[in-house]
Amino acid sequence: MKYLVVGGGGREHAIAAALAGGGDARIAAVMATRNPGIAALADSILLAKETDVGHVVGFAAEQSVDLALIGPEAPLEAGLVDALEEAGIPAFGPTRAAARIETDKAYARDLMARHRIPGSPAYWRFSDSEEAVRFIRDHPGDLAIKPVGLTGGKGVRVMGEQIDRDGACAYARELGTEIVVEERLEGEEFTLQAFVDGSRLVPMPLVQDHKRAFEGDRGPNTGGMGSYSMPDHGLPFVTPEDRDRALGIMESVVRAMASEGTPFVGVLYGQFMNTGRGPMVIEFNARFGDPEAMNVLTLLGSNLGELAFRCVDGTLGAADASFLPAATVCKYLVPEGYPDAPGPSEPIETGDPGTARLFFANVEELDGRLWTRRSRTLAFVGTGPTLEEAEAIAERAAAGVRGPVRYRRDIGTRDLLEQRCAHMRSIR
Ligand code: AMP
Ligand code: GLY
Repeated sequence: MKYLVVGGGGREHAIAAALAGGGDARIAAVMATRNPGIAALADSILLAKETDVGHVVGFAAEQSVDLALIGPEAPLEAGLVDALEEAGIPAFGPTRAAARIETDKAYARDLMARHRIPGSPAYWRFSDSEEAVRFIRDHPGDLAIKPVGLTGGKGVRVMGEQIDRDGACAYARELGTEIVVEERLEGEEFTLQAFVDGSRLVPMPLVQDHKRAFEGDRGPNTGGMGSYSMPDHGLPFVTPEDRDRALGIMESVVRAMASEGTPFVGVLYGQFMNTGRGPMVIEFNARFGDPEAMNVLTLLGSNLGELAFRCVDGTLGAADASFLPAATVCKYLVPEGYPDAPGPSEPIETGDPGTARLFFANVEELDGRLWTRRSRTLAFVGTGPTLEEAEAIAERAAAGVRGPVRYRRDIGTRDLLEQRCAHMRSIR
């Protein structure tokens, strides 16, 4: 089997590694800059923008790939899956229309409202920022302010966290048009990812990501500094009922999309806030999470390529995916100054990773040395029978890296988990 992997981050390194572990797989890869981890697994590489649809499809055809797996959201929005399918190349990922569940936050909220799917906070849409400002001024409670589309760094700002009411008004003006304003949700976040074949879902273990740059959940939001999962595939602050409700919401969304003629194929990523009212949807993504892909794919006991084929064929069954009963802890190393002011490219050295798995992300190999770039550099995933063991493995590997990079030591620690549980108890 020949697979095309699109994307050059830690998530795509994990996808390529999972494919490569499945027997006779050969890999072709497209990425903007050469990820040394993916490069080591691939027979052929195209260095190109992942959104350059014509270029990517041409390469896929020339490489005679059997199936393409798309990591990031930008090529989905650019219509890569549509173009591959037109060229007769099956693709694991949603069409441009189905990817709107991620790329158009108003579409996602409106779809849930149209189909009376529970789990949405109150929300309001504005196409004029002054209207949004008037609304924000008069609204009594805290709000979250979001651009409708993919944010490219300009993300969500939450009142009471990054901004006050004046700041919310200023941010709405900065965004200009097409704004979604939502009631602020209070609780603990978790990620539920599922393989989807257009109608059926097969869920993956729950994961908790850490968005904030610094320990203790302080500092600006990032792409995700690291994540963990538990041996029972749940999280101690998410009850089995909460998890079932979250999965039920995702099943309803998949059904709603199919009924409207835009069936979803690929990985549906539900980002939930577990609140006093149960799980509420923060947003959906139309792809694996990064870092969450590294947690779940490290545990995947079945063949990722076969699973992806089943999704594309519409023949997914619950027995197709199995996950090892272990804990995982993923820690990303990032350039000092990330995300606001990453420094210049600098050489780094990884020490002995022990049994941790190393996934490369935004890092370049020059003259046999690794150099940081502007985004997340590389990640270590520790796996063990308990969270403590998995954390110790990831921590030791991360601590061994020399150079101007930093990471969050608190991710996956028992202390932080206790805080999450205490927070959840206080709002239940
Ligand atoms: P981003 O990755 O930039 O989309 O940021 C998303 C983050 O914003 C989430 O991880 C939440 O912490 C926060 N967020 C989004 N919507 C809400 C909401 N309605 N209430 C509270 N926090 C939210
Ligand atoms: N970890 C968050 C994301 O992939 O969007």
